[in-house]
Amino acid sequence: MNKNKWTSRNVSSLALSAIKDMAMRSAKIPGVASLAWGLPSFRTPEHIRHIVKQQLDADPDIGKYALPDGLPELRRIVAVRHQRETGIATDPDRNVMITAGNMQGLNALFHVLIDPDDEIIMTDPGFASHAQQIRLCGGKPVHWKMHEEDRWSLDIGGLSDLITARTKAIVLVSPSNPTGKIFSESELRRVGEIARDHDLLILLDDPYRHFTYENSEKYFNLASVGDLANRIAYLFTFSKAHAMSGWRLGYMIVPEHLKEQVLKVHDATIICTPRISQVAGLAALTEQSDHLLEFEQILAKRRELICERLDCVPHVFTYVKPEGAYYVFPKIVIEHDDSYRFALDLLESARVTVTPGSAFGPTGEHHVRMAYCVSEDMIDTAFDRIEKQFPV
Ligand SMILES: Cc1ncc(COP(=O)(O)O)c(C=O)c1O
Repeated sequence: MNKNKWTSRNVSSLALSAIKDMAMRSAKIPGVASLAWGLPSFRTPEHIRHIVKQQLDADPDIGKYALPDGLPELRRIVAVRHQRETGIATDPDRNVMITAGNMQGLNALFHVLIDPDDEIIMTDPGFASHAQQIRLCGGKPVHWKMHEEDRWSLDIGGLSDLITARTKAIVLVSPSNPTGKIFSESELRRVGEIARDHDLLILLDDPYRHFTYENSEKYFNLASVGDLANRIAYLFTFSKAHAMSGWRLGYMIVPEHLKEQVLKVHDATIICTPRISQVAGLAALTEQSDHLLEFEQILAKRRELICERLDCVPHVFTYVKPEGAYYVFPKIVIEHDDSYRFALDLLESARVTVTPGSAFGPTGEHHVRMAYCVSEDMIDTAFDRIEKQFPV
């Protein structure tokens, strides 16, 4: 039997993301304190679950396929919401796609964009799974280095040098995973200009826009720049803001010519986003939204807690306070080999899970990512153990 014969080069060269690797390792260890996975501790809000329960009985079509681009009523609401948030008018039929979450939306986009060896620029550090997806489609992730001493701002000066004849797009996440950085309006506008000068697409992956704490004024949606509308794909997911990660639901706003291509990939791969999740999404966007503020307030407290606890172990970690999302990306200052070994040792000896920073690009080496979307008890337990493991 030749097992290699059955695995494509793209897949065999791929490793399971370190985030899921650590999550799976820690699931086998009883009593582990896990800061590895960005899975919010919240339940899907009650009113969303209630409407879904009602519709399960009332809607005879609920178990059926939906149209490939999504339920028309959900696309209509999405278009209204996008216009309210950005001032840009979009057409539910020509521009809106309902996706099974941002990962699926991006996957469809990368399939559309990438010919073998095409290049996609992503921030370094940046979200590990973007690089995985680009490789899976036969492309090359190009790491755009950010600097911790600049508090992880975008290094605009370094961007143009990375652009080649093979560059197709730039991926941006703000607030960022893993640094929590919110990129400034002027930085983002500069990226837009550079993309226009080089005829590139910008993919805005936006899971964390509702978690900006005292920095909400800083959040800027580049999709609100009218001149760029024909070169921006904006992706929003219900996973984090509405505690719906398991429902697999998101939407994207794309130029019409791109929607035509994305539809083909979507149809050939998942046919449609599960209808029941779309019904839940409709409830999330049309009913009360108090939970958005409530989640943010709880996360704000957890952010203060994790920063306080980090302040007590300066011999182990230094860090830049995150501005948004729910991650902090400390630098390991205690003696260690590399971030992967450090994370494994911490798991084995202290039963604490963190994600090795190297998973987020070369600049992430000698860092770890900690997700503070878990309970305060979990954060305290993790840091009690870290303090015991590394006494002053
Ligand atoms: C930047 C980023 N994009 C996408 C996702 C996944 O989104 P979804 O659940 O909508 O696929 C995550 C989840 O952690 C993320 O951090």
